[in-house]
Amino acid sequence: MKNLGILLSGRGSNFVAIADSIDAGRIPGARIAIVISNRPDAPGVETARKRGLQALLIPSKDKGRETHDREVVAALKQHEVDLICLAGYMRLLSPWFVQQFPGRILNIHPSLLPSFPGLEAQQQAFAYGVKVSGCTVHLVDEELDHGAIIVQKTVPVLDTDDEHTLAARILEQEHIAYTEAINILIEGNYEVVGRRLVRLQKSEVKWKE
Ligand code: GRF
Repeated sequence: MKNLGILLSGRGSNFVAIADSIDAGRIPGARIAIVISNRPDAPGVETARKRGLQALLIPSKDKGRETHDREVVAALKQHEVDLICLAGYMRLLSPWFVQQFPGRILNIHPSLLPSFPGLEAQQQAFAYGVKVSGCTVHLVDEELDHGAIIVQKTVPVLDTDDEHTLAARILEQEHIAYTEAINILIEGNYEVVGRRLVRLQKSEVKWKE
């Protein structure tokens, strides 16, 4: 059983989707060990506690990046976290943080990377006029929205869309994509070749109990 650590800063719908998937048996190999927010007003913290999960507030305001990251990493290690899911965590991780969990940090981004990295990706895609957008779950490396891609889902941009309706349909796909990506990581039947995350035969598993 792998321990997940969820980092969030806001409403936490991706966190809820992961928790629902676990409760429904769709991620049989994992449990949520800890939920951490860097923002005191993140609704995701209260949601986590209501579900009976441990949730911590580790405020980042007025702290240097690495000082805050050290507190977060200490909490993750204390809860024996194997895999970290960034779920709307509005903070760039320091290289030091990334190095503490090599290949074990996932992020979800609401565009088809490498298009539209950074903030307000759905609005960027809408304004650009693309006909297809979507979401990406990727491994986190030291660059923003950059690591190897685990799962992508496409979403058509309709003529009737505005940026809100598009973002809502992307979000539905995010919730599906994150569960798939976590299962791929914890099953371990993949290797990363250059930028490519390639699925292996079941017999070549990477993580053993
Ligand atoms: C999502 O759109 C995610 O892709 C992005 O931040 C948003 C978080 O939403 N990284 P939520 O807090 O999970 O509802």
